[in-house]
Amino acid sequence: MSKKVALITGVTGQDGAYLSEFLIKKGYTVHGIKRRSSLFNTDRIDHLYQDPHDDNRNMILHYGDMTDSMNLTRIIGDIQPDEIYNLAAMSHVKVSFDIPEYTANADGIGTLRVLEAVRLLNLTDKTRIYQASTSELYGLVQEIPQKETTPFYPRSPYAVAKLYAYWITVNYREAYGMHASNGILFNHESPLRGETFVTRKVTRAVSRIVLGLQNKVFMGNLSSKRDWGHAKDYIKAMYLILQQETANDYVISTGVTTTIRDFIKMSFLEVGVDVEFRGVDEEEKGFVVNVNDEIFSKVVGEEYLAAFKNRIGESVVGVDPAYYRPTEVELLIGDNTKARTKLGWEPTYDLKALCQDMMSHDVELMKKEEFLKNGGYRVLNYFE
Ligand code: NAP
Ligand code: GDD
Repeated sequence: MSKKVALITGVTGQDGAYLSEFLIKKGYTVHGIKRRSSLFNTDRIDHLYQDPHDDNRNMILHYGDMTDSMNLTRIIGDIQPDEIYNLAAMSHVKVSFDIPEYTANADGIGTLRVLEAVRLLNLTDKTRIYQASTSELYGLVQEIPQKETTPFYPRSPYAVAKLYAYWITVNYREAYGMHASNGILFNHESPLRGETFVTRKVTRAVSRIVLGLQNKVFMGNLSSKRDWGHAKDYIKAMYLILQQETANDYVISTGVTTTIRDFIKMSFLEVGVDVEFRGVDEEEKGFVVNVNDEIFSKVVGEEYLAAFKNRIGESVVGVDPAYYRPTEVELLIGDNTKARTKLGWEPTYDLKALCQDMMSHDVELMKKEEFLKNGGYRVLNYFE
């Protein structure tokens, strides 16, 4: 039997990296589309990369861009994929307010370009398509918890672009009988998460604070709630969606929601530090109230304990309204009943396990970067 061929757009991103590894282990040949960049942008997939001179490669990269239809059509025509995972997107909600037109082009029309290429190349019967839809579609939520039938109410240029992508995927399925499905994925995180999304910003900053490399961290809205899962679980759902006989749309979530504030507390607790929040709105601050010597020494290192204990009573978290969004999504919580019953999918990581995975990774990373001091660490200067 010949190997299955998958094409992943957004292969250099968090999900693209985990999905590539997963599909290669399943015996696929994985083709990925990466953007040209003046610096290397393949950190997350370098361990999968194979020299182009090797025979029998199972990971092949192509230059491309979601805004270039001829490029996408040529790549799809050349490789004739069995499955396309359309993960490429300008995926930062706050940034989409700064670059709304580009976001619409890449995230909205980009999806149309992929669908139309498959149609024009007469691959409709062969190629199955996964569209990376999002819980951001629910925005100002019309129902709690959100499920496949909950009406959408997008609250950002990103979510509006993804709304177009969602419906054009449904339309191509209904109009041309294409096997095209939406995964409506709720937030999913990991040690590979981009540094400006809230969980990773927090786990990196907490790691640096306890190591004495950073004084405090400034955040935006601490009260919004997210349904967070682990990216490793969520890419399995993408795969399962494309293995179904008929195409369909699925919510992928954990069914548990947590505030940003509680995620910060949880991250500090992973290293034995008790943080208490006092004050309201812009005046809210997180103070160190206690340190568990045993946990701190085990996870961070005994040599950092004395210095950090001097910080008991000090604030380590502040609020800067520059991180607020013009319109916010206050609450997301998903009902994953359809995915559980029809796909047999369920999450294996709860939030504590996810937080532990990210914190242990980032403490070790920052310890390495400590030797490079600030040369090895990019300070987050932008209000993302
Ligand atoms: P990510 O880490 O931001 O990765 C996005 C990927 O898209 C990167 O490989 C990026 O390339 C690529 N990309 C961006 N613009 C592009 C363009 N114009 N042409 C080609 N490639 C482009 O995002 P992720 O967390 O892996 O998410 C994957 C997909 O799922 C995205 O579509 C996102 O919107 C969606 N989603 C994510 C979540 C979540 O919680 N993670 C939830 C629901 C839906 P560079 O590496 O060069 O930047
Ligand atoms: N990024 C960020 N930075 N968010 C903050 C901060 C901060 O300093 N402080 C508070 N937040 C709040 C945001 O206002 C938002 O309510 C929440 O934390 C989550 O923000 P992000 O982690 O940036 O993710 P998101 O929910 O906006 O979007 C992510 O999940 C979507 C699925 O629901 C992205 O991955 C999207 O691509 C994805 O579609």
